[in-house]
Amino acid sequence: MIKRICFVCLGNICRSPLADGIARQEIHDRGLELSVGSAGTGGWHVGDPPDPRMRQTARAHGLSIDDLRAEQVTAADQDRYDLFVAMDQSNFRNLQRIFADAPQVKIVKLLDFHGGPEQDVPDPYYGGDDGFETVFELVTSGVGGLLDAIESGQLND
Ligand code: 4NP
Repeated sequence: MIKRICFVCLGNICRSPLADGIARQEIHDRGLELSVGSAGTGGWHVGDPPDPRMRQTARAHGLSIDDLRAEQVTAADQDRYDLFVAMDQSNFRNLQRIFADAPQVKIVKLLDFHGGPEQDVPDPYYGGDDGFETVFELVTSGVGGLLDAIESGQLND
C-alpha cells in the first residue's frame, strides 16, 4: 500500500515543496490517509525554506509552504517513503541512480498523471516569474491525477 509519498525535484526549493503543499491540502480535503514530504536530488539548499517566488505564487493561491525546509534524497529514504514522484525526467533518472541497489523502490513522474501533453514540470529557478505560475498549474493537475491513481489502487502492486 502506498501511504508515504516523497516529491522530488533538483533543489527542493521550488517545484517539490509546492507539490508537497498542494498534496497536503488535497489529501486533507479528500480525507485520505497519506503522508507527504519532499526532497531534492541536489544538496545546495538543504535547510532552506522554499524560494520566495514560489512561496509568493503559492500564497496567491491561498496556500502557505513557508514552513517547509529543503532536504536531499539519499538511498536511506527508501525506508521513509513508499513512492517517489519526480518533477522531470532528469530527477527521474537521478532517482533511479540513487536507488540503483533497490529495484523495488517505486519511482514515477508527476506528469504521467495529468491529462495534458507536458512531460516535465519546467525548472523555474533561472526563469521569469511567469514560470512559477506555470509550475503551479502543472503541479496542481499532476497531484490531482496522482491522488486519483492512488485512490483507485492503480499504483499498488
Ligand atoms: P527546484 O528548482 O528543483 O524546482 O527546487 C531549483 C532550485 C535551485 C537550483 C536548481 C533548481 N539550483 O541550482 O540551485
